[in-house]
Amino acid sequence: MKIRLGPTQNLYPMPCPIVVGGTMDQPRALTVAWINVVSSTPPTVAMGVRRTRHTLEAIRERGTFTVNVPPASLAAETDYFGIASGRTADKFAVTGLSLVPSAVIETPIIEQCPFNLECRVTGETEVGEYVVVLGEVLESHADESVLDGGGAVDIEALDPLVYIAGARQYRRLGDKVADAFKIGRSFGDSA
Ligand SMILES: Cc1cc2nc3c(=O)[nH]c(=O)nc-3n(C[C@H](O)[C@H](O)[C@H](O)COP(=O)(O)O)c2cc1C
Repeated sequence: MKIRLGPTQNLYPMPCPIVVGGTMDQPRALTVAWINVVSSTPPTVAMGVRRTRHTLEAIRERGTFTVNVPPASLAAETDYFGIASGRTADKFAVTGLSLVPSAVIETPIIEQCPFNLECRVTGETEVGEYVVVLGEVLESHADESVLDGGGAVDIEALDPLVYIAGARQYRRLGDKVADAFKIGRSFGDSA
């Protein structure tokens, strides 16, 4: 039997990258779970950021941001970026996470996060107390250590931190279940 739970903001699971705005000299950053890719042509991410976030000002001012995927080993650092505000704390100094220059935008990427996107703001929509920011992905980066022999991201090496809303837990991914765009063919290849 299905139990009605009412309107919810929860969806399972969620990513939880650290999003950076600003510059090498004046970086701002926060953890964002409400983020994902929403287009491939052009490659674009959308994220929901509460209007009061310190980092949002820098993203709007420069028109750029980076998305930095932390490994599971950086759970504490990622959580800190999501509970402390740059208004009162130097989150990079406290956690020891460091920045390296991006390739095409002035907003830097996080050295210790092995997968990164460079984005240019292409749109914005207000939704209640939140601002949905659209960012075109201009460049992406991966540490050599998380790439397989063919140059693709090896998800086990990346070991991305995952956020479980509701339970408010961080987790890591489990085992491979099947090949996407393939296993469904067992029902017939009509696509
Ligand atoms: C796991 C996690 C996910 C979060 N996701 C979001 C989010 O999607 N949008 C948002 O506005 N804030 C989110 N937050 C809260 C911000 O990261 C937090 O308020 C942060 O302190 C804001 O930093 P700033 O004021 O320096 O920008 C999240 C926090 C955590 C711990």
